[in-house]
Amino acid sequence: MKLPEELQFIANARMVPKTTATRMDGRTCVITGATSGVGYQAARRLAQGGAHIVMVCRNREKAARVQQDLKTIYGTDVDVVLADFTQLANVREAAGSLLANYPRIDVLINNAGVHHTRRTLTGDGNETVFAVNHLASFLLTCLLVRRLIQSAPARIIQVNSQGHRFGGLDLDDLTWERRRYKGLQGYGASKVAQLLTVWELADRLEGTGVTINAMHPGEVRTNIGMNNGLLYRWYQRYLLWWILKDPVISGNAIYYLAAAPEMAQVSGRFFNLTIDEKPAAHALDRPLGKRLWTISEELTGLSTAG
Ligand SMILES: NC(=O)c1ccc[n+]([C@@H]2O[C@H](COP(=O)([O-])OP(=O)(O)OC[C@H]3O[C@@H](n4cnc5c(N)ncnc54)[C@H](OP(=O)(O)O)[C@@H]3O)[C@@H](O)[C@H]2O)c1
Repeated sequence: MKLPEELQFIANARMVPKTTATRMDGRTCVITGATSGVGYQAARRLAQGGAHIVMVCRNREKAARVQQDLKTIYGTDVDVVLADFTQLANVREAAGSLLANYPRIDVLINNAGVHHTRRTLTGDGNETVFAVNHLASFLLTCLLVRRLIQSAPARIIQVNSQGHRFGGLDLDDLTWERRRYKGLQGYGASKVAQLLTVWELADRLEGTGVTINAMHPGEVRTNIGMNNGLLYRWYQRYLLWWILKDPVISGNAIYYLAAAPEMAQVSGRFFNLTIDEKPAAHALDRPLGKRLWTISEELTGLSTAG
C-alpha cells in the first residue's frame, strides 16, 4: 500500500540507507556536539575515513576523552574547540578560533541539539532549544561560510529531525510568552527554523561549490532529552529505548552525505538518513523563511556586525 505523501517518511525509515567507501583523507571536518550520540558516531566514522576532525563541544572533559579515543583507534588528527551554544558570544569565539586555525574547512556538520520539556531562556534572552538548535548553528554557519566557499568544494550538513513535523514555529512568539510551552513543539519550532534557513542558504550558495543539506539521523539511542525530569528519563530509558536504533546508522548516514561523490552537487534537500524526502509543508514556506532569516540575523547580531 502506497502511503500518502505526508506519511512517506514512515516508509522511508524502513529503506536501506546508502553507504560510501570514499575516503576523506586530508579533509577538515568541523562537527558540533561530537561528545555523545549521533555526533560521536559521526566523528568516529569520519575518523575511520581518515578525516581531520575538529570537534566543537561544551564539555572539556568529555571532549578530551572522545579526542583521545579517536586518535588512539584511528590515528587521525582530532582537535577540540570549546563552546556552549546557549551563549551566542561563545559561538562567535568558536568561529573566531576556527577561522584563525583552519585555512580550509571542507565539511561543517551542525549536530549539537537539545530537547527540553520546560521553557527556559538563555542569558541572551532566547528560548533555549531555539537558541541551541537553530540560532547557534545559524550563526556558526554564517560566520564560517566564506571559509567554506574558499575551500570549495565543501559541504554543510544540518542534523535536523522528523520533529520538524510537530511545527510550533511562530515568528511573533519565538520566546513562548504568549503560548504554553510544549516540549515537542518547542523542539519542532527549532527544527522548522533550521530547515527554512537551509533552503535560503542553498539559494545563496548556488554556484559557489558549497552545498547545504539537512538530515534526520533516525530514531536512535542517545542522551537527548536526558536533561528533563525523572518521568521523561524513565520513559526514554525503559520504554522507548527498546524501539530506538543504534546511532551507528546516524554516523554512517552523515558520512555518506559528507563523502559520497554522488552527493557533491546535491544541495537544499532533506534526507531521512540518506533517503531524499519531502519535509512537512510548513517547513517549505519560503516567504516565512525569508522573514526568519532577517530575524535570525537580528537575534544573532549578524545584521549589526556587517
Ligand atoms: N536521538 C534521536 O533519535 C534524534 C532524532 C532526530 C534528531 N536528532 C538530532 O540529533 C542531534 C544530536 O542529538 P543526539 O540525539 O545525539 O543527542 P545527545 O546524545 O544528547 O547529543 C547532543 C550533543 O549536543 C551537545 N550539546 C547539547 N547542548 C549543547 C550546548 N548548549 N552547547 C554545545 N553543545 C551542546 C551535547 O553535548 P554534551 O555531551 O556536553 O551534553 C552532545 O554532544 C540533535 O540535533 C538532535 O536534534 C536526534
